[in-house]
Amino acid sequence: MLFKIVKATALAALVTSAAVAGDYNKQAEKDREGIVKYFETKFSDPEKNKNTFFPYSTDDELKNNFIKNVKGDEFSKGGYSFSKNGRLSYDEIKEFPPTEEFVEKGEALFNKPFANGKSFKNCFPDTTVAGEYPFYDEKRSQVITLTQAINECLTSNGEKKFKTTKGKMAHLQAYIAQESTDAEKRMDIKIESKAAAEAYEKGKEYYFTQRGYLNLSCATCHIQGSGQRVRNESLSPGLGHATHFPVYRLKWAAGKADNDGLGTLERRMSGCIKDAGQVPPKNTSETMKELLYFMAYISNGLPVDGPDIRK
Ligand code: HEC
Repeated sequence: MLFKIVKATALAALVTSAAVAGDYNKQAEKDREGIVKYFETKFSDPEKNKNTFFPYSTDDELKNNFIKNVKGDEFSKGGYSFSKNGRLSYDEIKEFPPTEEFVEKGEALFNKPFANGKSFKNCFPDTTVAGEYPFYDEKRSQVITLTQAINECLTSNGEKKFKTTKGKMAHLQAYIAQESTDAEKRMDIKIESKAAAEAYEKGKEYYFTQRGYLNLSCATCHIQGSGQRVRNESLSPGLGHATHFPVYRLKWAAGKADNDGLGTLERRMSGCIKDAGQVPPKNTSETMKELLYFMAYISNGLPVDGPDIRK
């Protein structure tokens, strides 16, 4: 199945190089629709779909631990969209979400004046924009992530950058995510030029390219592997990976003083890439930003629902 997707997209990329104006997201839209269809089919009835999608899962697991007919919006919930046990503990924790204090910290940061008297308000007049990042900046010919936009707001006002993984960066993003979630925003990533389409294609290529000594790609685990168990975890669908960050994880709440449990999407991805035995691209590198652009685009239309919690 995966190979079908890869082949089809590679072929189509060749044919659509002569896209007409306004049509630059045509290929991306095809990919997105294909991916949604793949996951909805896969998770419609895992027990019935064993031979096609879950050859390595036990009958018992397929019968008892899957929520059936997972559709559209549900994929924002990652592995909790289909895992019965996971979903139970998730719903329990969400009754008193541990992310509230981070949203408050983020709001305070947002309103705190910089030394020059301005504040984040000047850079982000609209706080409900989590679903619009990353975007392709035509003038600068590069993908701009929320992390980058926040740091550029700081440096252009004579302030020091934040770390890209946790702490203040994560708090501020938690506030923007919460504002966007409360405003019922959905992922809305645009591809409006040939250059933007190329950046998307590069992100897609990274996502589907197998590398490292284990020869794994993101897609190995999060597309055709999703639903499979690895040790104690169910592999989440790649669809919806960009909707709910930053996230709080117990694993991130230990050790150093600034490990309060909250982390950005870049932090999560780097961890994942390291776990797969590879060297992650730097968080603000073109490669990482293009990868994020692809991941966010395929989640288009899903509700923004950060900040969230994950195991
Ligand atoms: C060896 C398998 C494997 C590979 C390869 C892999 N991941 Fe993961 N990933 C995991 C596991 C296990 C988890 C934790 C359970 C889950 O949510 O899927 C995870 C979690 C994630 C999450 C958090 C999901 C959420 O709902 O918050 C993101 C985002 C993610 N991976 C992105 C990536 C990206 C991008 C790549 C490729 C650069 C990648 N992963 C490659 C195994 C993998």
